[in-house]
Amino acid sequence: MERLRELRDEAVAAFESAVSAAALESARVRHLGRKSEINQVSRGLKDLAEDERRAVGRAVNELKNELGALLAAAGDRIARAGASSGPGLDLTLPGRRPWVGRKHPVTRTFERLEGIFRTLGFEVALGPHVEDEFHNFEALNMPADHPARDMHDTFYIEGGKLLRTHTSPVQIRVMQSRPPPIRIIAPGRAYRNETPDASHASEFYQLEGLYVDRDVRIGELKGVLTKFLHELYGEDVGIRFRPGFFPFTEPSVEVDVECRICEGKGCSVCKGTGWVELLGAGMVDPRVFQAVGYDPDEVTGYAFGLGVDRIHMMMSGVDDIRLYHENDLRFLRQV
Ligand code: PHE
Repeated sequence: MERLRELRDEAVAAFESAVSAAALESARVRHLGRKSEINQVSRGLKDLAEDERRAVGRAVNELKNELGALLAAAGDRIARAGASSGPGLDLTLPGRRPWVGRKHPVTRTFERLEGIFRTLGFEVALGPHVEDEFHNFEALNMPADHPARDMHDTFYIEGGKLLRTHTSPVQIRVMQSRPPPIRIIAPGRAYRNETPDASHASEFYQLEGLYVDRDVRIGELKGVLTKFLHELYGEDVGIRFRPGFFPFTEPSVEVDVECRICEGKGCSVCKGTGWVELLGAGMVDPRVFQAVGYDPDEVTGYAFGLGVDRIHMMMSGVDDIRLYHENDLRFLRQV
């Protein structure tokens, strides 16, 4: 009788914990089947004395009835669970990999660029996104009537303020705050009221550079930018310095690199030319030095500005700048 109670508890536990029809069936065979211990007790009844046989016989019958009912209930439970979760649970399916968070491609690009310029001796400087006309334009030799202002479709806000149209005002703020030598980069966001298309977004990212000291020459500008582009794209990349114009640099250059997507053969990213314009640069215009109180006869310097979204586009083949600002996870998980 003692052993029957143990067998009961084992069988109840097995039926209740079964999660599939197959598991329940094997529990039934083990605990109630022909070779089960309970069945052996039934078969051994005939060897017992008359009064013992009656007592044990009743107990075995009651136990079989009870377990039979529990087995049916467990079968119903499993059938119901299966019906509510569709066509059964397929334990052989591969698991779903949880997504791991990571940095935005623009953040990763900034970190890479900052790393390269830090090894070249530049330190990081930051400035406000809400600027005034003086820092964004006037001190950069773009007075109110200057035609170059048309190129900067500006978002004006109340109180004569505006959203900076480039990171160049950080040059002005740094020079106003301390004397030369200055060797900074200024990473950050800029804003222009442009009609967005695949290569123009109303918000975009730039990295500004400024070096001011005695006797800084254009050869140093060329050397630093060449070194930078070699670090970024490899020493075999084609680089082209073209004459350009910016009101705050003289002379000015625009720097192209050979398209890394098509290796210069011509594709949609480089619009078939094999080259992509990545940088604007030049020697700081003496008028800029005057605006910040530096003596243009004492110091010279160079400045450059580059499009950070564009640099990432050139490394990855992403062909629409707006994707960087939409925060669509399907895009961010791929780049
Ligand atoms: N500020 C310029 C632009 O946004 C880029 C630039 C920076 C050019 C520094 C020359 C020197 O177009």
